[in-house]
Amino acid sequence: MPTLTRPRNDPRQYDDLADQWWPPRGAFAALQWLAVARARLVPAPAGPSALLLDLACGGGLLAPHVRGYRHVGVDLGERAVHVAREHGVTVLRGDVLRLPFRTGCADVVVAGEILEHVADVEGVVAEAARVLRPGGTFVCDTLADTWICRLVMVSLAERVRTVPAGIHDPALFVDPERLKAACRQQGIALTVSGLRPRLSDALAWLVHLRADVRMVPTRWTGMVYQAAGVKA
Ligand SMILES: C[S@@+](CC[C@H](N)C(=O)[O-])C[C@H]1O[C@@H](n2cnc3c(N)ncnc32)[C@H](O)[C@@H]1O
Repeated sequence: MPTLTRPRNDPRQYDDLADQWWPPRGAFAALQWLAVARARLVPAPAGPSALLLDLACGGGLLAPHVRGYRHVGVDLGERAVHVAREHGVTVLRGDVLRLPFRTGCADVVVAGEILEHVADVEGVVAEAARVLRPGGTFVCDTLADTWICRLVMVSLAERVRTVPAGIHDPALFVDPERLKAACRQQGIALTVSGLRPRLSDALAWLVHLRADVRMVPTRWTGMVYQAAGVKA
């Protein structure tokens, strides 16, 4: 795992690590596992023109799991955008707080592992809701604003190098109730559930007996959690 020298939560870190998006044992391996879990919340496309907007799409890890959608991403990262394009995503460079999409255009809006990187969660949710059509689905996952999540995902994970050092700012982790309230304000009733790695997979992955780790739902939302809701 490369050592980073940027300030904590500096988005340029993703450019520094652009070759890490897709290797199964790379710095972003856990994002690959989360993309599989995220896709389980995405409804089947209604038709060939169904549009899925992937906010902060990174290297396009969702692409293999949402076939059938027109998969359009937006991300700040110059190199991430190139990587995502190589994997079939149509990508614009831009900020999740000012989406370059027209109001009501999307059937599905996905915000995977981005809300814990922005101070203005309500602003991102408002933008997601703006571009989502009525009856469309919002899907997201993020890290919980709890001491144990900060301990595990920052202090411990950075020490044992299972996440890149400095990639998270623990002050930005998101309380599920705050996220639900932000969505409610936008007419989206969110259903939230926790996610955890399947223990046997994680052990097998650690000793190189598995290429991936399956993320399974759990009632506890104090660590990683995912959520979905339909816009009224
Ligand atoms: C943890 S990665 C998640 C990537 C992808 N959603 C996934 O789960 O594989 C966070 C991504 O957010 C992007 N990002 C951070 N702040 C952003 C912003 N304000 N607007 C757009 N993208 C942003 C970074 O460039 C990075 O690609």
